[in-house]
Amino acid sequence: MNEPFSGERDSFTSKFGVIAAAAGSAIGLGNIWRFPYVTGENGGGAFLLIYLLFVMAIGLPVMISEFVIGRSAQKNPYGAFRMLAPGRPWFLIGLMGVAAAFMILAFYTTVAGWTLEYFYQALTGNLSGKTDSELTQMFNDFQQGSFRPLLWFLIFMGFTAMIILSGVRKGIEKYTKILMPLLLILLITLCVRSVTLEGSGAGLRFLFNPDFSKITPKVILEALGQAFFSLSIGMGTLITYGSYIRKKENLASSAFYVVTADTLIAIIAGIAIFPALFALGGSPASGSGLVFIVIPAIFQKMPLGDVFALIFFILLAVAALTSTISVLEVIVAYLVEELKMTRRNATVAATLAVSVLGLLTVLSLGSLGNIKILGRNIFGLLEYLTSNIMLPLGGFFIVLFIGWFYSRKKTRDELTNDGELRAGYMPVYMFLVKFAAPIAIAIVFLYSLGILKF
Ligand code: TRP
Repeated sequence: MNEPFSGERDSFTSKFGVIAAAAGSAIGLGNIWRFPYVTGENGGGAFLLIYLLFVMAIGLPVMISEFVIGRSAQKNPYGAFRMLAPGRPWFLIGLMGVAAAFMILAFYTTVAGWTLEYFYQALTGNLSGKTDSELTQMFNDFQQGSFRPLLWFLIFMGFTAMIILSGVRKGIEKYTKILMPLLLILLITLCVRSVTLEGSGAGLRFLFNPDFSKITPKVILEALGQAFFSLSIGMGTLITYGSYIRKKENLASSAFYVVTADTLIAIIAGIAIFPALFALGGSPASGSGLVFIVIPAIFQKMPLGDVFALIFFILLAVAALTSTISVLEVIVAYLVEELKMTRRNATVAATLAVSVLGLLTVLSLGSLGNIKILGRNIFGLLEYLTSNIMLPLGGFFIVLFIGWFYSRKKTRDELTNDGELRAGYMPVYMFLVKFAAPIAIAIVFLYSLGILKF
């Protein structure tokens, strides 16, 4: 089974397997690291509201569409568009997806490496007894260094490559099923501690009381980008996973479960972070280190906090791993199916290429920090370009493809499993993919470029 693409296509073995794998891709650093820090930088409640709106009106239809494309074509994103739309330029979406996969892996694995560092620090007792400002100092020193962040990056990339080499079924399903519920339990524990700290109310108000004066074009674009990023949509990850879903599964309900789980985890992460942050007197706009400073700080205020911190960071690393494998899988599936490489060579080549870009990304937070493109360091640039531009653009074309190009009958057949399931949501879904989602994405783009003004 090491060559899932020879003979019968590898597939997920159960409905729970599908949801677990897609949720494993969606749930990760996007929910626990990125959601709180981006929400913090964009004003809190109002951002959350727009985010939720985008998740439902754009994210869910894009996810269903990716599943439909992947399962009908049984191919990687590039191959899928070539097959479903021969001789048309739709395959460019697939290529953009492969490019985005490289870029996402470079910065995502950097942050995933941080989780390993914090696991290690917890293991060696170094988080113990640290004050909030010491924790801040510790994060900054670590992040600006070269050797350790690079080492953890490479270790994490290595783990990702190893799992990809072992194939889809064995590799992906096994790890997601047990560990994610554990992470959820720990997150909820953190929430309980966070909201019972004195002065935590301000944090809850920040998160749930929308202040509409905070809405700017930037906030709206960030909400869209975060929705795409967190759901793993817009670059073909879920086209690739869709191609491994068996014909009898219900695509729409699977997507719905994944979207719901992903969103709940993000909100729970928010409830863990913001009350504690305000209680400790920190600023919500403190950037990408937020979670790595606040979460150890909360653990410091709990009995057995050091043990919990240890478990938390290793589970977070696993959550990140189920996401990185889903991104690497896009590149590998492309190289194997289109360039006819062996799975092994494809994995090695992709891992090496990502590592080169990753090296620059890691160093851009320290010694290469003065290299600025569009006012951002390499890390920030990759994050911005992928989540805010490439993923929404990919999603835009994916819904246009299903809404306007692909036959409605084939879409319906795919969603009903050739008439076996009912699909009462079809009219709503078709309205969303034809009109609402593409128009909304277009408006956000034009608005954030300043071309459209309200
Ligand atoms: N959604 C994942 C997270 O929130 C990250 C991720 C995995 C991703 N696959 C992706 C993001 C594809 C964008 C596109 O951690």
